[in-house]
Amino acid sequence: MAEDCAQNPGRLRDSGMSKILVVFGTRPEAVKMAPLVKQLETRGDSFETRVCVTAQHRVMLDQILDAFDIRPHYDLDIMTSGQDLYDITTHVLAGIRPVLKEFKPDMVLVQGDTTTTFGTALAAYYEQTDVGHVEAGLRTGNIYSPYPEEVNRQLTTRLSKYHFAPTPLNRDNLLKENVSPEHIAVTGNTVIDALIMVVDRLESDQQRSDRVTENIQRAGLAPKILTSATKMVLVTGHRRESFGAGFVNICEAIRSLAAKHAAVQFVYPVHLNPNVREPVEKILSGRDNVHLLEPLPYEEFVHLMSNAYLLLTDSGGVQEEAPALAKPVLVMRENTERPEAVEAGTAKLVGTDRTEIVAGVEELLTDAAAYQRMATATNPYGDGTAAEKIVRFLSEHLSAT
Ligand code: UD1
Ligand code: UDP
Repeated sequence: MAEDCAQNPGRLRDSGMSKILVVFGTRPEAVKMAPLVKQLETRGDSFETRVCVTAQHRVMLDQILDAFDIRPHYDLDIMTSGQDLYDITTHVLAGIRPVLKEFKPDMVLVQGDTTTTFGTALAAYYEQTDVGHVEAGLRTGNIYSPYPEEVNRQLTTRLSKYHFAPTPLNRDNLLKENVSPEHIAVTGNTVIDALIMVVDRLESDQQRSDRVTENIQRAGLAPKILTSATKMVLVTGHRRESFGAGFVNICEAIRSLAAKHAAVQFVYPVHLNPNVREPVEKILSGRDNVHLLEPLPYEEFVHLMSNAYLLLTDSGGVQEEAPALAKPVLVMRENTERPEAVEAGTAKLVGTDRTEIVAGVEELLTDAAAYQRMATATNPYGDGTAAEKIVRFLSEHLSAT
């Protein structure tokens, strides 16, 4: 674990300002870093903040930058079609090096468990620069599930000085790995901040809300699908460990559910990864009640989540957003680093087995009591003040003498 850096102790400079570099590269990191960027911007008296995107995702990242009106200071633009883990790691390292050397931040903030996260933390360590890890302490204990995220997050812990744990359980995981308790803050997850921001916007701005509905129609969904008279199952999926047989199972499960429940609408904004698109398009296209869409901008996706009957996903972020919206979420994975939602009753693991997925969805479609039990559970991921808590922690710790 990184201790105080001799070369760069991360203290206030003579000017009284700390230099913070916020780095992210994929859609979920952008959603979860946006509230923090906004919060840091309100503290221009204490922090000189710069945003660097690796653009490990290009289109899906830009959708989120637009939604939160973030203009990065540095854009490494590393994405290539069909990139592998070597490509991402080496391009992040090579791209971030001149940024670190030029800006010389006191602290680099990274989020979550992507290869952008790990590569950036490693580069910061090479520069002997302190790292703050947002969404720290999530663990499955299985290095191949999720792959490579479990190792990315464990290595990022080792490379970080400060750890922003969403929940007390995440804090306990870090303590078990001998992370110093004074370097951990339990903050809630910044995804809840982002979600609340967007829900509030849509509720308070009718024009914006109308625009979102129009965009959803333009993306290919008829308005009747968004009425309470229609049961809509919202699907997302993209995990590397499910490529191949896992994805075929997922798609076949949706195909048989759609055939059996003709009145239920299955809406699936398909991730841009070719390993996902190929089986999804092959198995699910051309069916009346299966709607395959391009990835949606965040406001549009939040609107769909709010109108869904249930969510079927392998996404980390969606597992956290669903409980906040009181929507049951079936998780198409064998394990989860987010057991809080399962314990709270909102989430259930159904794996990637076709029979289990079908049984899980059918139970919620047909058993009102089972549905209500999952739809009324409480949200364990925070109250929308995570970014504020992180910035407060940073101002206290970076200004300490
Ligand atoms: C990445 C993260 C994963 C995260 C997920 C969120 C790693 C190793 N994986 O996985 O932790 O949960 O993002 O979605 O860091 N593509 C585009 N345009 C885009 C985005 C992706 O065309 O805007 C295509 C490209 O062909 C790209 C491929 O998708 O090569 C895979 O992207 P990549 O970031 O390598 O992996 P993800 O599966 O998206
Ligand atoms: N999301 C989005 N548009 C979509 C699908 C998802 O904006 O079409 C948002 C979703 O609300 C969540 C985040 O993207 O905040 C999750 O990203 P993803 O599932 O790609 O990654 P993970 O969370 O699994 O790392």
